[in-house]
Amino acid sequence: MQPLIVAIDGPSGVGKSTTSKRVARSLGIPHIDTGAMYRAIALAGERAGVPVDDEPRLEQIASRARIEFIPHAANPRVLLDGHDVTEAIRTHDMSMAASSVSKLPAVRRVLVGLQQAMGNLAGGVLEGRDIGTKVFPATPFKFFLTARPEIRAARRFRELQGKGSSETLEAVLEDTIRRDTQDSTRADSPLTWDASYVLIDTSELSIDDVVSRIVDQVASGASNFLTPS
Ligand code: DC
Repeated sequence: MQPLIVAIDGPSGVGKSTTSKRVARSLGIPHIDTGAMYRAIALAGERAGVPVDDEPRLEQIASRARIEFIPHAANPRVLLDGHDVTEAIRTHDMSMAASSVSKLPAVRRVLVGLQQAMGNLAGGVLEGRDIGTKVFPATPFKFFLTARPEIRAARRFRELQGKGSSETLEAVLEDTIRRDTQDSTRADSPLTWDASYVLIDTSELSIDDVVSRIVDQVASGASNFLTPS
């Protein structure tokens, strides 16, 4: 029996995080936020004064970094070398820096290795950009979430407003499109999907709908995989 791996890929602002957390809880397997890992390396690089295109130094940082996910239903945390960086990795600057750092093949190699090790340990719902194409290409459970950029930007805008940010909707839309372009056009593991994925356009769907579609599909095919009893 192999561990149960569910790949949830897609661009930013598509509802991946909320969906993945809930799918993981429902299936009783860990949630692994691979974007948070790129963000943590971007933050570690910034704190060490390393430019986002310094591949050898960022590879070294990634190889030495200890990234941990502390599960919690309402308040999961991300630790970098034992320190809580949950909020620090979510800033606007870290979004752009993570996107730049994630272009570097040497950094990707290290983080993909860690993601595979984490998934092989106890299975997991892995959310990211390349889970079904590069990290766990053999899993039969691959979902690609999409939504129109305007809808994704509006969701992100509301989230930022809730946190007291004064960014305009236009600026958020511009950022969304810029990051999509950067993530989809990079040479190594660009954001993409193929016929092995189930494509879900979340533009007109509630999170509940998306979660139940994924959970139903996985549950109906998961009997050959190791799941928590
Ligand atoms: O999902 P996120 O916004 O937290 O991801 C931050 C950046 O990391 C994003 O711009 C693309 C990159 N990323 C990646 O290249 N591969 C992944 N598996 C996850 C994220």
